[in-house]
Amino acid sequence: MDGVADRIRSELAFHDEQATCRAHYFRSHPDHLQFDDNDYLDHETWVRPALAQLGDVRGLDVLDFGCGHGMAAVVLARSGARVTAFDLSPNYVAECQTRAASNGVALRALAADGERLPFADASFDRIWGNAVLHHLDLDIATRELRRVLRPGGVAVFCEPWAGNPLLNWARRTLPYRGKHRTVDESPLTPAQLREMRLVFGAVEVQGHQLLAMIRRVLPAGHCPSWVDRADAWLLHRFPVVQHWSRYMVLTCRVSQSNPSPTLVGV
Ligand SMILES: C[S@@+](CC[C@H](N)C(=O)[O-])C[C@H]1O[C@@H](n2cnc3c(N)ncnc32)[C@H](O)[C@@H]1O
Repeated sequence: MDGVADRIRSELAFHDEQATCRAHYFRSHPDHLQFDDNDYLDHETWVRPALAQLGDVRGLDVLDFGCGHGMAAVVLARSGARVTAFDLSPNYVAECQTRAASNGVALRALAADGERLPFADASFDRIWGNAVLHHLDLDIATRELRRVLRPGGVAVFCEPWAGNPLLNWARRTLPYRGKHRTVDESPLTPAQLREMRLVFGAVEVQGHQLLAMIRRVLPAGHCPSWVDRADAWLLHRFPVVQHWSRYMVLTCRVSQSNPSPTLVGV
């Protein structure tokens, strides 16, 4: 069997099964589909600042790339964007649609493969993705992203980062809460970031959770607040340490006046 088809099939099976379990839960707790924007924006420390990178989305065409549960899609729709959300898993698309209806917002949701986007060139002003690119062939996905973004467009992705050897060891070895992985996913590497820069010209990066990654092995809600404050100071004061952080927020921009990418060395 073709390796790409194999990978896509295995990702689909994994996420569809996960979404099926969730659907079972939501059938008996339909009210749990409703949520406040802050529930999503504060569920991980990078989400709020990363979403802010999209700017004011009112009246813009925004794509939620690999939408999963659809919470970002709902937050963006509540902010006034015209939202299209897609995911490889039809069962996650169904959750996104049900969640949108439960929260009283309109959006378009469909099943699609991020490596073969079913959208015309220059369809979107903004693209959002959380924890998704590291499941894809980044070279193909980046070209697709670039193709569907309009001149002046911005894409923001939050992805696990592979720059910290100790963390990579912990990811491979330690058991911790919420450690559900597909066999093909892998944190983004500096080499992959260079590939993205070849397509977009510049890609801004912002590392998140240096000390605060300790929350992954603590019981939920037990990470002391000083850890986040220490992180904010360290990551701002010594940008070089961002390379060892848990997540990287990547912001890709397409120039308004010169939409062809400038190839830059990295
Ligand atoms: C870790 S989940 C993240 C979901 C959501 N963005 C979030 O913030 O929770 C990864 C998602 O990527 C989706 N995915 C994996 N491979 C994909 C592909 N080739 N095209 C589109 N979505 C894909 C999965 O179905 C899953 O919903």
